[in-house]
Amino acid sequence: MTHQDPHSCWIFGSAQIAHADLDLTVDFDRQVIHGTADYRFDRALDSRLRLDTRTLQIDDVSSDGRSLEWRLEDETFLGRVLSVDGTRGLNTLRIRFATSPSAGALQWLTPEQTAGRKLPYMFSQCQAILARSVIPCQDTPAVRFTYDAVLRVPRELTAVMAAERTDVKQEGHHTVCRFRMRHPIPSYLFALAVGNIVSQRIGPRSCVYAEPEVLAEAAWEFADVQRMIEGAVELFGAYIWDRFDLLVMPPSFPYGGMENPTLTFLTPTLIAGDRSLVSVVAHELAHSWTGNLVTNATWEDFWLNEGWTVYAERRILERLYGAEFAHLQAAGGRNDLLVAFKNFSDTPQYTKLKTDLGGVDPDDVFSSVPYEKGYLLLVEIERAAGRDAFDRFIASYISDFGFTSITTGQFVEYLVRQLPEAVKGVDLDLWIHQPGLPESAPVFSSSLIDEVRAARARWDKGERNLQGVVSTWNVQQKVLFLEELPPRLTPEDCAHLERIFELEKTRNTEILQPWYSIAASSSYERVLPTIREFLGVVGRGKYLRPIYRALHENPQTRGLARELFEKFKNRYHPVARSAVQRILEK
Ligand code: BES
Ligand code: ZN
Repeated sequence: MTHQDPHSCWIFGSAQIAHADLDLTVDFDRQVIHGTADYRFDRALDSRLRLDTRTLQIDDVSSDGRSLEWRLEDETFLGRVLSVDGTRGLNTLRIRFATSPSAGALQWLTPEQTAGRKLPYMFSQCQAILARSVIPCQDTPAVRFTYDAVLRVPRELTAVMAAERTDVKQEGHHTVCRFRMRHPIPSYLFALAVGNIVSQRIGPRSCVYAEPEVLAEAAWEFADVQRMIEGAVELFGAYIWDRFDLLVMPPSFPYGGMENPTLTFLTPTLIAGDRSLVSVVAHELAHSWTGNLVTNATWEDFWLNEGWTVYAERRILERLYGAEFAHLQAAGGRNDLLVAFKNFSDTPQYTKLKTDLGGVDPDDVFSSVPYEKGYLLLVEIERAAGRDAFDRFIASYISDFGFTSITTGQFVEYLVRQLPEAVKGVDLDLWIHQPGLPESAPVFSSSLIDEVRAARARWDKGERNLQGVVSTWNVQQKVLFLEELPPRLTPEDCAHLERIFELEKTRNTEILQPWYSIAASSSYERVLPTIREFLGVVGRGKYLRPIYRALHENPQTRGLARELFEKFKNRYHPVARSAVQRILEK
C-alpha cells in the first residue's frame, strides 16, 4: 500500500535513513545546537536526496570526505527542504548544521523558569513535525531509524535522551554524554533535555529524572509505575524498550506527557501530592505498544496512535483501580470530546477520525477528537466482539504490526479480516470518515458518575450545602462536576464553589483548570490574580487553551487575556505559544 505523507518531502518507497550518528554541542549562550549528523541509508541513493529541515542552518554536506552540492528550497509552513545533488549510488552522508534560537521543537529556559532557579534548562518536543528543526531528517512517522549520539553540554549540567545513556564524563568545559537507541524509531520520538537533572530508582526498570528540588516528591507520586508496566505487559505483550524512565520537566512543558521511548517526559503538574493524576503515566506507558511499536503512518492517521492509547490507558487503569474508575475517566473524556466538537463547529472536517491535512499543520488542529472518538470506536468494536476475542485481536495487531507504521486503511482491512462477524454491526465508514459522533457511541455508567450527577441535580434545585458529599469524592469526580456546570456563574455561586471544593487550598491543576475557566467566564474578580500567577508559570497547553479562551470570550476580560499573553508568551514553548495565539486571534 502506498501513501504520501503531506507533511514530509520523503517519497513513500524511496531510500530511508536507517541509522544516524550524531555529535552535537548544546550552546546555551547562543541558544543553538550545532554539530554533525552522519547518516546511513537502507539502500543506495538516487541522484538527488531531499530531507526536511526547518529554521536549520546547513554548513556543509559531504560523503566520504567529498563535498556535495546542496541548496535549501523555498520556505513553506513545513520548513525548507534540503536538496542534495550528486548522491547517486551513495549510502552515507555527513551534514554539518546548526539549529536556530527560534527552533520550533526547542525551548530554552532561564534559571528562573526552573525549580532550582540557578541553572538554565533546555528540552525538545518534536511531535508532530518539529524534529526537522533539530536535525535534518525524513520527518515522517513512516520512516524509522536507530541512532547513536554524543551530546556536549555545559559542565555544570547534564543531558538525557530518549535512549540508553552509555557514558557520561567531564571534558574541559563540557559534560559529554553518549547515548544509543538500538530500536528503530520515527523522528517524532527523538528527544533530549539538558539541565540540572538527577535521578532516583522507583522500580526494576524505572527511574525518575528531575531537578533535585522535585525529585523526592516525584519519586513518591509515580511509585505505582512497576504495577502499571506489569498490567500493560499482560494486556499487550512484552515490553521491548528495556527501560521505562520518567523525566519530570519544568512547568512550561507544553503537554501532560510525551511518550519518548525509554524516557517519558511529564509535566510537573502531575505531582499533586496524592497520586491522583497518574493516568497520564499509564497513557504514555501504553504508547510503548500503541504508537511507538505500531505507529501511525502519517498525522492524518493520528487517531491510530492516540485512540488506541486512550483505550490501552483505560484498560491499565481498570486493572489497577477498577472498572468504576476507568468508566469515570471515560465520562470525563466524553465531555472533552463534546468541547472539541463545539470548538470545531465551523470546521467539522476536523472531527473526522481520518483527517485530510494537506496544507494544514497537525499541531494547529490538535484536539481530543482522535483521542476520545478513537477510544469510543474501539470500545464499540470491543463490545461487538466480546472482551476475549478483542484481547486476542489486540495481541495479534501488536505483534503483526510492531515496528511498522500503518494507515487507517491498513488498520480497517486488518480489522475486517480478523473480526469479520463483529464489525458487521459497526458502521466503520461513519465512524472514520464522517464528522461528529455516531448515535451508537458507547456510554459509560459507574456509581462514581452517578454520585456526581445526583449532586448536580441538587445544585440545580438551588441546594448549595454540598461539601459533605464533595469531600468524599476523588479528583476526577470533582473535575466532572466542575466541567459540567454552566460556564458563567454568579459571584455568589463562584463563592459557593470555592467553599464546597476548598479551592483556595487545592494545588491540583486538574481541578484548578475548570475552576479558573468558570471564574474567568464569570468575571469573578477575586480569583483573577491567582489566574495571572498560574498563567505565568504553567505552560501546559491543555490548561492554557481553555483558560485563555474563557478570558478571551468574556468581553470584560478580553483585554486581560491579551495583556497576560504579551507578558508571558516568551515563557511558553513555541507550540503552546502558537496555540494560544490562534485562540486570541479569533
Ligand atoms: N503524544 C501525546 C502528546 C502530543 C500529541 C504531542 C500531539 C505533540 C503532538 C501524548 O501521549 C499525550 O497524548 N499526552 C496527553 C496526556 C494524555 C493522558 C491524554 C497530554 O499531554 O495531555
Ligand atoms: Zn498520547
